[in-house]
Amino acid sequence: MKKEIHFELNGYEVSAEVESHKMLLNVLREQFHLTGTKEGCGQGECGACTVLVDGLNVDSCLYPAFEVEGKSVTTIEGLVGEGNVLHPIQKAFVEGGGIQCGFCTPGMIMSTKALLDETPHPSEEQIKKGISGNLCRCTGYVQIIESIEKAVDLMETEPEK
Ligand code: FES
Ligand code: FES
Repeated sequence: MKKEIHFELNGYEVSAEVESHKMLLNVLREQFHLTGTKEGCGQGECGACTVLVDGLNVDSCLYPAFEVEGKSVTTIEGLVGEGNVLHPIQKAFVEGGGIQCGFCTPGMIMSTKALLDETPHPSEEQIKKGISGNLCRCTGYVQIIESIEKAVDLMETEPEK
């Protein structure tokens, strides 16, 4: 069964005709060509597909596309500001060494965004909990946690645009 869905995507009202079995991840990558959101496990285990739906981080590989009707979706592409200025969290990951191969990075950054929107000054424990659904094969997490702490500082001095 196909249905037209309407939702907000990175600040724009959009619509798409989708099949009932499609997940949000498929629609974002295949129909909107937003390939920043990655497919890792496809089973809700790795967090590579994390996006925000109404401000909450969700695994888009398990999120039925039909369910975004009327909601607001933000992907990694939606964090970049005017003039392609990196969001402070993106900048912090670049400067803090929180990126190696980069496969986990979009999901990690979207979980960080959800965390810092809710808790602007998280403890290390809160950071670990905030990214507990995101797996990284490369960094050992130390640089990622440092990058998130750096993001907290940058968000104070360079608020998002
Ligand atoms: S691809 Fe969605 S959780 Fe791994
Ligand atoms: S940087 Fe490679 S998986 Fe995280």
